[in-house]
Amino acid sequence: MELTPAQIAQFEKDGYLFFPSLFAPEEIAVLNADVPRLFALDRPEVIKEKGTDAVRSAFYVQSYSEPFRRLSLHPRLIGPGAQVLGSDRLYLHQFKINAKAAFDGAVWQWHQDYATWAEDDDMPEARAMNVAVFLADANEFNGPLMFIPGSHRRGKLQAGHDTTTTSYPLWTIDNATITRLVDEGGIVAPKGPAGSVLMFHGNIVHASGSNLTPWSRWIVYLSLNRCDNAIRRFKRPNWIAHRDFTPLEALGDDCLRQLARQSAAE
Ligand code: SIN
Ligand code: MN
Repeated sequence: MELTPAQIAQFEKDGYLFFPSLFAPEEIAVLNADVPRLFALDRPEVIKEKGTDAVRSAFYVQSYSEPFRRLSLHPRLIGPGAQVLGSDRLYLHQFKINAKAAFDGAVWQWHQDYATWAEDDDMPEARAMNVAVFLADANEFNGPLMFIPGSHRRGKLQAGHDTTTTSYPLWTIDNATITRLVDEGGIVAPKGPAGSVLMFHGNIVHASGSNLTPWSRWIVYLSLNRCDNAIRRFKRPNWIAHRDFTPLEALGDDCLRQLARQSAAE
């Protein structure tokens, strides 16, 4: 998949691009079939919401799930990432599923991902981005991602380390700054069916609300970084901030369909 110059210009202006239904239902089914197993694992990479047993995130799943290993190397995600970041030499800085579980899924406070990558991991520049794949439908009720369009053009904003609101520490932005940014840029919340893809800049300001619905909002995230922008501090576990800076080599476009065919034949 190749982004057009107009799409790249739109990413530069707004800080995100949305592709509804980029993956087919049978490709998503092969991933979703493994999620209950992953969420039931008792291992440090699978973290719970504060005060409940609901899974918040499962990190580093490419190392213990074949379908997710294939997704982490999918050409429909890595190709556009390379175009936007301006390099064919990209590595995976982080890879996780965020569950936003039915009824129990808690907020993600307003933040820029690059703030955490810079403060915690000493990533030199904001030449990294996220590619999010919806494993479940995201609607207006189940805690969709919210963005302030254009906010990435402000660069890295002042942030404070919030270690108490949720079970996951995050560098977050104060309400007065958010109010000012929203006055200027508004808020968008791209919604769509499972299989949709959202690509967003490391400096775009984003958040998501809690999920009070019976519909879990599973999303998997690839955080792609340029190999020449690798992190220089190794404070966080390597399953949160990866230390393997080898350039990714994309698999074939049918890598998930192949797995679907294999499971059907078994
Ligand atoms: C994030 O901002 O890193 C995650 C937000 C979400 O999954 O809602
Ligand atoms: Mn984020």
